[in-house]
Amino acid sequence: MKAVTTSELRARKGHEKIVMVTAYDATFAAILDGAGADILLVGDSLGMVVQGHANTLPVTLDQMIYHTAAVARGARRAQVVGDLPFMSYQISPEQALASAGRLMQEGGAGAVKLEGGAKVAPQIEAIVNAGIPVMGHIGLTPQSVHEIGGFKVQGKDAAAARAILADARALEAAGCYGLVLESIPAELAHDITRSVHIPTIGIGAGPACDGQVLVCYDLLGMNPGFQPRFLKTYGNLHDQITAAFAQYAAEVRDGAFPAEEHTFHSKTLRVVPPTEDDDKVYGVPV
Ligand code: KIV
Repeated sequence: MKAVTTSELRARKGHEKIVMVTAYDATFAAILDGAGADILLVGDSLGMVVQGHANTLPVTLDQMIYHTAAVARGARRAQVVGDLPFMSYQISPEQALASAGRLMQEGGAGAVKLEGGAKVAPQIEAIVNAGIPVMGHIGLTPQSVHEIGGFKVQGKDAAAARAILADARALEAAGCYGLVLESIPAELAHDITRSVHIPTIGIGAGPACDGQVLVCYDLLGMNPGFQPRFLKTYGNLHDQITAAFAQYAAEVRDGAFPAEEHTFHSKTLRVVPPTEDDDKVYGVPV
């Protein structure tokens, strides 16, 4: 099956919305791809939702490569975008290119994403010049959570909004093929979307963006304690998983599982002499 390309995504701007979702393993990648995702983002959000950290800072490049490779093995049609984690690109354009190259070569990504505005334009240029597509990420940039002072909506006053718009233009000029806009007012996302020629993908950025992204576990309702305003849940996997597992646990405890249809037999092989109770244990006369 033909994979989604960056040029196809760019051509969708203004015509057809782009559907992006995070994935961290091959099983979820195959399900989400089969359900119609255009882009599978191997987000460094895995530091929080997979690894259980309070933020994304502890995630390493090796870990991102591991998860990106798993997602790439599960994907068929969707473009796989690998996140460059904290401190894998900030030091220099050379470091950024080397890290991006590993995500493509070892992780099998089709593109990389990094956070930041005009300050990271030299990094983006170096990566794009090597033929690697780059998606930018502005607004709330979680890798800067300590500088920002929390996971807060950005660009709420005119000066901050103008700075984010300038960053969007700088990232387009540096060669990004798309931009994630995270946690900014819908009006600002609308103006940015109209001001750049590349697709914008929103998370907490309102309906005017050219596409939307959510963390897969969040949209599937796996974490009932996480209910931010920007999130809509499309399932209640937390309760479904809990109920399914509780039934499995009960059946293991009362002996209903495994039943005869889940059991292998050998008519001839016995490695210890049979006892009178064996038919109870094996479920069939021995
Ligand atoms: O890491 C991530 O999952 C992300 C999305 C929330 C955009 O960057």
